[in-house]
Amino acid sequence: MPSQDPHSFAVPDNARVTHLKWNATVDFASHTIKATASWQIETKDDADIIIFDTKGLAIDSVTIDNGQRADFRLGNVDTLMGQPLAVLIKPGVKHVHIHYQTAPDAEALQWLSPEQTAGKREPFLFTQSQAILARSWVPCQDSPNVRFTYEADVTVPKQLLPLMSASNPQQKNETGTYHFDMKQPIPAYLLALAVGDIAFKPISARSGVYAEPSVVDTAAWEFADMEKMIAGAEALYGAYPWERYDVIVLPPSFPFGGMENPRLTFATPTLLAGDRSLTSVIAHELAHSWSGNLVTNATWNDFWLNEGSTVYFEHRIMEKLYGVDYSEMLAVLSLQDLKQTIVDLKADNHYADTKLKLNLEGRSPDEGVSDIAYVKGYFFLRSIETEHGRDKFDAFLKDYFKANAFHGVDTDTFIAYIKKYYKDNFSITLDDANFNAWIFTEGLPANCPTPSSDRFTKVDDVLAKWKAGSTVDASITKQWSTHEWLHFIKNLPETLTADQLKALDALGHFTASGNAEILTVWLAVTIRNHYAPADAKLEDFLIHTGRRKFLSPLYTELVKTPEGKKKAQQIYEKARPNYHYVATNTFDKLLK
Ligand code: BES
Ligand code: ZN
Repeated sequence: MPSQDPHSFAVPDNARVTHLKWNATVDFASHTIKATASWQIETKDDADIIIFDTKGLAIDSVTIDNGQRADFRLGNVDTLMGQPLAVLIKPGVKHVHIHYQTAPDAEALQWLSPEQTAGKREPFLFTQSQAILARSWVPCQDSPNVRFTYEADVTVPKQLLPLMSASNPQQKNETGTYHFDMKQPIPAYLLALAVGDIAFKPISARSGVYAEPSVVDTAAWEFADMEKMIAGAEALYGAYPWERYDVIVLPPSFPFGGMENPRLTFATPTLLAGDRSLTSVIAHELAHSWSGNLVTNATWNDFWLNEGSTVYFEHRIMEKLYGVDYSEMLAVLSLQDLKQTIVDLKADNHYADTKLKLNLEGRSPDEGVSDIAYVKGYFFLRSIETEHGRDKFDAFLKDYFKANAFHGVDTDTFIAYIKKYYKDNFSITLDDANFNAWIFTEGLPANCPTPSSDRFTKVDDVLAKWKAGSTVDASITKQWSTHEWLHFIKNLPETLTADQLKALDALGHFTASGNAEILTVWLAVTIRNHYAPADAKLEDFLIHTGRRKFLSPLYTELVKTPEGKKKAQQIYEKARPNYHYVATNTFDKLLK
């Protein structure tokens, strides 16, 4: 019997949803969505109640089956989980229709003014449901272990185009009303909607890019290898299960690098570096089509299963397309960050959060979003690959996705599955001590694989010479990619003089860089060393970027000194209106 999800009020074992018909009108003037969520349900014979998750929703009325009114009750408000909506039902009830409206400050929704878009003429709306924010725009059973199919009819202002994590239009129509279908069952955290002045450009017969008209060509160029990525992923772990794979490039306030909404990955415009150097994020979101969307973490305590296996899959896609020297650069960069994260979490008294399996009960699932799930999870899986061979691990992963498709898996189930698989197929007994060391123990186990990159060894040589006092030979660095520069900047000495910083900036043009990854590591260096010539760029970057991964290290570096904190607060006051709730929720605490 599946255990209760600590982040949902629903009791799906008694009464669960199976299909959603969502009828909605998006109103930019009031920043609200007025909707009816018609749920098809399945109940135990004696069930007389069904419970939904809601957050901030104004419920107008609830009806059942053919429109009879039903009694309902909203429970007490929990600041994290929202309110349970209990609907009284009689045995045999098959449909529950909830008529409601979202709050103007619904946490999943970000309403952008025209000025916050690339085109500056039309407003924009996008959702971010993961982890437990879907309930702020659709009353639902908001647990990753509850899946449903859905269809939707969405009405928007006629000059705008709506898109969902479902079958999607490629152009605007005359009516402003659009129909969507998602025929494969998904959990609520994968419900998604974007509305704006959006254009489409195909990349292959089954994939393409959506973005604002002034961005769509740039985006299609940057992501030109998308079809190769899909084909590469399929060659590794089985047929792509969702028909189409499209990407929408959102305005800059999107708080993540990417979000794996089924059939339509949501992406940050910071991926548009102009040299295709940041496309591993697309490989990552594509990989979630198997690891996460097909086989899903049963609860947010098992988040490492979603992200660790996705980072593993992402590296394999990048290796297949661009070679092992490329994917190893990614691995080295991420391992350095992971080691720092472990040091930081220990210093902050959160060492327990360096275990893969987390205990987030009573806490926001957001607290589990760190390099631990992603990178420690990745290196754990890689350690099994290293120890027993790639062929075996690949066979396992492919069969694991197939055997558990459209189901949730928790950590214990994963361990049992992989142990049985290796035993049955290869007569190998996987060591329990190793699972314990990686999954249920803090820190990084001794058998963590060591990634190695010749290209980075050359960077290390340049760094060593530079540290010893010689100038850098620009004919060497001219050949460097984004990743080599990242490795270089990340391994500079802690303290640098103004003259050194000036020389470095002249060498790599970091302050002027349009690459957000490079800018972030560089600006952290300039904050630490009080390098004033980068101040204006820092402020501009913080105001115009919404991706939390870039904002976090910079605000964190700033608040380390009293002057820095003051500066951070001043900038944050200007920047905050541009940020999504997911970001303000993090930085309000840091910058108070
Ligand atoms: N699903 C995550 C984003 C997420 C995680 C949203 C938890 C809300 C809660 C997505 O797949 C992701 O991992 N994005 C990363 C990119 C990646 C390459 C590591 C990001 O946004 O940086
Ligand atoms: Zn991910």
